[in-house]
Amino acid sequence: MQLFIDTADIEAIKKANAMGFISGVTTNPSLIAKEGKDFHATIKEIASIVDGPISAEVLADDAEGMVEQGKVLAALDPHVVVKIPMTGEGMKAVAALHKLGIRTNVTLVFSANQALLAARAGASFVSPFVGRVEDIGWDGIALIETISDMFRIHGIETKIIAASIRKPQHIMQCALAGADIATCPFKVLEAALHHPLTDAGIARFKADWEKSGLKE
Ligand code: E4P
Repeated sequence: MQLFIDTADIEAIKKANAMGFISGVTTNPSLIAKEGKDFHATIKEIASIVDGPISAEVLADDAEGMVEQGKVLAALDPHVVVKIPMTGEGMKAVAALHKLGIRTNVTLVFSANQALLAARAGASFVSPFVGRVEDIGWDGIALIETISDMFRIHGIETKIIAASIRKPQHIMQCALAGADIATCPFKVLEAALHHPLTDAGIARFKADWEKSGLKE
């Protein structure tokens, strides 16, 4: 399973990218709005930092508008993947963009059937939202597992991006459930990176070395 970062915060993207473990970036209108900077310039800047898929979401509600916005977004950088919401109009846009050779990531997926429909419309990626499913008392990891089993049984090549990741446990659970990618906020990646026993171990090694009086 690969790791993407789910943010439009350039500093967080730079920090995570420097640590070598992220292979792509996902954004959404809320994340872009939070940074308060020009949308297209932000996507271009992200694409200049990370060498991998960068999801940028359309804002139109109708298929025609989504396709027009999708073409503009895809022209920003070859790494751009157009994020499309899981609606009937969205599916029309996915099919049209697929014909044009433009990759899409279908977002706001909450059921296995939605994932199947998006894949069959031609989506390159589907994004089931683990955290938001759990917020309403359903099993987000089971959703990932079902989609993963279904895609494997039927040889569907659409990649599963486990989204709405809220805690480090979600990362390993999604990996074991068969997600291709987990897209994580920076704070979840940081939480996954650290362990109190690692910090205690470093402190003990240092103290023992200093006590010994040995030189490097
Ligand atoms: C997915 O691509 C979305 O940007 C994101 O994962 C949503 O997460 P949230 O439910 O924490 O807002």
